[in-house]
Amino acid sequence: MSVSEKDIKKIIFSNARTYNDWQRKGVSNKILNELYDLMKFGPTSANCSPSRIIFIKSPEAKERLKPFIIESNLEKTMTAPVTAIIAFDIDFHKHLPKLFPHDLDAQNWFNYSQEVAYTNAFRNSSIQGGYFIIAARMLGLDCGPMSGFDQNGLDKEFFPNSSIKSNFLCNIGYGDPTNIFKRSPRFEFDEVCEIL
Ligand SMILES: Cc1cc2nc3c(=O)[nH]c(=O)nc-3n(C[C@H](O)[C@H](O)[C@H](O)COP(=O)(O)O)c2cc1C
Repeated sequence: MSVSEKDIKKIIFSNARTYNDWQRKGVSNKILNELYDLMKFGPTSANCSPSRIIFIKSPEAKERLKPFIIESNLEKTMTAPVTAIIAFDIDFHKHLPKLFPHDLDAQNWFNYSQEVAYTNAFRNSSIQGGYFIIAARMLGLDCGPMSGFDQNGLDKEFFPNSSIKSNFLCNIGYGDPTNIFKRSPRFEFDEVCEIL
């Protein structure tokens, strides 16, 4: 694949949209593996990598997911080839001896308080969620991220008695642009940025 810098900007940002409708084209397990193998390189605090992902692909798994999706998100979720649950492990710090081997003290930077562990797990998994969307777009996939779901219910179903909690959901597939609405405005630089 040879794409210019200009193309990459379009693929990741300026032409990329959030999709609600999907082409009838499946997403292979190979591409889901490739997606993870790209996003995993995005930086996290002390390389803590708290994201845990379930790719909901089979009709059986979609039926398990269905009761927890709000009405307005239901059709696009049930018709998407894959819905990823982007979750995070609050006990991520247990894995730091593997993930940050050059400083075996690293787990102690996070494990001294539940609040510190939670804040870092949520912060870093949200950042990893952004890497997930960028990686998916680089692989030619489209995304539909969603926070409209019953988080407690979903966690009981997919992560019972676990330190893993859901963050957000992301439909993935090949978007159908037929009914896409006009791009919403964004803030201009001077409205939200300062250079001091
Ligand atoms: C974390 C997150 C949660 C979102 N939750 C929902 C949702 O529950 N339902 C929905 O229809 N869209 C949801 N969206 C989609 C946003 O409304 C959409 O990405 C935004 O308007 C930008 O659209 P664009 O990418 O087409 O410019 C969510 C997006 C993000 C990133």
